[in-house]
Amino acid sequence: MQRMHSQNAKGPVVVYGATGHTGRFIVEELLRRGHAPVLCGRDVTKLAAMARAHPGLVCHVAEVDDAAALDRTLRGASAVINAAGPFLDTTVPLMEAALRGGAHYLDTSAEQRAALAVFEQDGAAREAGIVAMPSVAFYGAFADLLATALMGDWPDADAIDIGVGLDGWRPTRGTRITGERNHGPRWIVRDGALLAIPDPAPTRQWQFPSPLGTQDTVMLSLSEIVAIARHLRCPSVRAYMNLAPLRDLRDPRTPAPVPADERGRSSQRFVLDVRVRRGDVTRRAWAQGRDIYAVTAPLIVEALERVLAGDVAGAGAWSAGEAFDARGFLQALSPEHFVVTFDEETSEGRRRA
Ligand SMILES: NC(=O)c1ccc[n+]([C@@H]2O[C@H](COP(=O)([O-])OP(=O)(O)OC[C@H]3O[C@@H](n4cnc5c(N)ncnc54)[C@H](OP(=O)(O)O)[C@@H]3O)[C@@H](O)[C@H]2O)c1
Repeated sequence: MQRMHSQNAKGPVVVYGATGHTGRFIVEELLRRGHAPVLCGRDVTKLAAMARAHPGLVCHVAEVDDAAALDRTLRGASAVINAAGPFLDTTVPLMEAALRGGAHYLDTSAEQRAALAVFEQDGAAREAGIVAMPSVAFYGAFADLLATALMGDWPDADAIDIGVGLDGWRPTRGTRITGERNHGPRWIVRDGALLAIPDPAPTRQWQFPSPLGTQDTVMLSLSEIVAIARHLRCPSVRAYMNLAPLRDLRDPRTPAPVPADERGRSSQRFVLDVRVRRGDVTRRAWAQGRDIYAVTAPLIVEALERVLAGDVAGAGAWSAGEAFDARGFLQALSPEHFVVTFDEETSEGRRRA
């Protein structure tokens, strides 16, 4: 295992896409934890406005296709958080700049192909002495961490099923554009291989905890599938989502999210319900919380701090579940950012774990 670079270890953290909806939550979380992030993006007007609100923070303007500007921005940085999507447009240039600059790379992608593009850079990340970690967000790392925590001492499992339940979804502009851009094939794990989702996508009922209860869901797989497939031994990994938020998403009249509490979170409620089955035992964990954009910030900043603290075994491309003590990671954010409940059901009955 390659050792990680130390030359930039004390350098600042760059947030690319800092002025986006999710980027702003990430910047606030970094500030709250005592970091002084470098704000970066392509829009000078938005960056200048953000800098006025945060005097003392350094700003850099850089287009993703301007390698020299990205290199200047990342010079001496310990890490870059890429919060600018569609990631099919931003992952590769930001990742390449991170490799050149010896800065760890983390992003919030939900697109499977973008996550795979980072995992494919495992060798280059080892060479450069950096950690590269895609999809450290609600879609991606969250289900990966829950599934990994559930696996515990099991060397393998028969099936991992993920249910995403939302009481509604007010999408950001970035979500809408990303959805339009992300029209390639999507994969689930079937018979131990990444295979295209059946067409039409299968539907099933899912028993979420209250208040959502029983919901009609449809198979919808995002980056958690490729993150889990990378390191957990399981021939079947599938994800489903309830229909109401998908209707919101498809309706062009659905407005963008609005802040509804002191932290700027919207009123959206989520439950992420993961079930791992091995033989006749099913382990289940569900996380309940508020605002899928806002919760992405503590997830990625917690990961960043663990990377900077040297908690990852070595340089290379990692999924969050693969890299960290998953249960400890989730506990560190609970109950402040979400509440996780663990449960186990056997043929003899069930017990709260
Ligand atoms: N995996 C998850 O659970 C999760 C959670 C949250 C967000 N996300 C993803 O994060 C991305 C951003 O979402 P958001 O809600 O923050 O959207 P947003 O508020 O619209 O912000 C998007 C940000 O990305 C920047 N951007 C977009 N394309 C770019 C490009 N080609 N070059 C440089 N900058 C670019 C935008 O810059 P301009 O302002 O200049 O346009 C803006 O700063 C989306 O892809 C979304 O799917 C994923």
